[in-house]
Amino acid sequence: GAASALAIGPLSGCDALSDTRKAATLALDRRPLTIPPLEQGKQISGQRVFDLVLKRGTTSFFEGVQTPTIGINQSYLGPTLQMHRGDRVRMLVKNELGEHATLHWHGFELPASADGGPHQTIAPGASWSAAFEVRQRASLYWCHSHALRRSGPQVYAGLAAPIYVRDEEEDALGLPSEYGVDDIPLVVQDRTFASDGSLVYSSNMQNGMMGMIGDVLLVNGTHEPVFEARSNKLRLRLLNGSNARFYEFAFRNGQTFDLIASDGGLLKRPFRASRVRLAPGERAQIVIDLVDDRPIDLVADSVSNMGMMGGGRMMGMGGIMRGQRGDALRADQFAVLSIVPAEDRRKGEPLPSELTSFAAPDPALAVATRRFVLGMGMGMMSGFTINGRSMNMARIDERVPIGQWEIWEVENASMMAHPFHIHNAQFRILDRGGRAPPPLETGFKDTVVVNPGETVRLLLRFEQNTDPELPYMYHCHILEHEDAGMMGQFVVTT
Ligand code: C2O
Ligand code: CU
Ligand code: CU
Repeated sequence: GAASALAIGPLSGCDALSDTRKAATLALDRRPLTIPPLEQGKQISGQRVFDLVLKRGTTSFFEGVQTPTIGINQSYLGPTLQMHRGDRVRMLVKNELGEHATLHWHGFELPASADGGPHQTIAPGASWSAAFEVRQRASLYWCHSHALRRSGPQVYAGLAAPIYVRDEEEDALGLPSEYGVDDIPLVVQDRTFASDGSLVYSSNMQNGMMGMIGDVLLVNGTHEPVFEARSNKLRLRLLNGSNARFYEFAFRNGQTFDLIASDGGLLKRPFRASRVRLAPGERAQIVIDLVDDRPIDLVADSVSNMGMMGGGRMMGMGGIMRGQRGDALRADQFAVLSIVPAEDRRKGEPLPSELTSFAAPDPALAVATRRFVLGMGMGMMSGFTINGRSMNMARIDERVPIGQWEIWEVENASMMAHPFHIHNAQFRILDRGGRAPPPLETGFKDTVVVNPGETVRLLLRFEQNTDPELPYMYHCHILEHEDAGMMGQFVVTT
């Protein structure tokens, strides 16, 4: 049965890894894509209130196999939390995990006390309330654990959920917007299962360096799912919710699609593309047309984030070890979603040629420049640094005046690519290695890949001022790197 198909034992050999994937694929019937339930909260005296419980449970990812997991209001991941720009939101978070946890609203500009970072720890059995106004543009955001040194294992076990922000500007465009029908969140995560069905989170040397790389791909917690499409136009909201793996998404038949949004909202116009690359924490929205009755498959190539191979395809322990044995490097390709057109389908409106407008980022606005150098030394727990320092809760690394336009220069002095994420901001990318950014980086971003040896220049300002001593974070979104110290703290001062 499936249980024996999953019998890969500990992460010992490379062959075991590739065998698992093969076996898992063969043994399993394709399941319908799980659509996270839509949760819009309750309106209570002018606030949109969400009741969220962090809890443990078991999830059946594979027929006849129960996997211990954690989730938000459910056993694995959480509902899609939907809100509107301008809403006043209150998040009531109860921690029933039996361990310390936090819940961070990734991509949101909000008071530091509501951020859900390592300083907003929720003790076991305790509750935490976060109130903020939704200032974000319509887009896909997400929430996840940000517990100090525990983000990796907690997110891996399931502590994350998608967030939809909608707004009037976007509503007026007539984009595919029917949740679960033609507007679909896809939370993409790689996982490794042990023979007893439990998730394997391994923090050995290899994972410490690479981050936790799994060998099975889950989408909204479903392995190799099928989705029946009742519209010829589908909007897919991709979130790389993996701890460490980078992906390049494409349709197996080579079909092109329209790229319409990045992390923090719509791009100026749709961009025709055939591939889209996302590092952990990054999002992209694409619109795909079904042209006939044939199923189409969304696949993901695993992308190497190692220096020498930047831009190459190969990652994961299996691949690397094969490489070390002298074989040719080869793609690690995953099935993401098989889209099966239903017999009866609505046509779908053509996309507008213009989606939104915003000014080009103007470096002349900046009155200060800060520099951040990402480093990986040799000592595993001391080697992950920003500007030579490892995360320290008691140290404020940067003091940034409120409302001040700044350029943040992020340089990668290590041999791996890192997705650099900044809290409390949606920034713009001025240039990458001195060159203009590609289409997906022309809009609003909160997480940006910095390749080895490269410098990326960001333009940003912080508009939220709260407790001048309570910090926000910036960090690598490879969660094992974050947990190992590649994180710093800034306060917004008046
Ligand atoms: Cu998505 Cu500081 O996190
Ligand atoms: Cu964040
Ligand atoms: Cu990193």
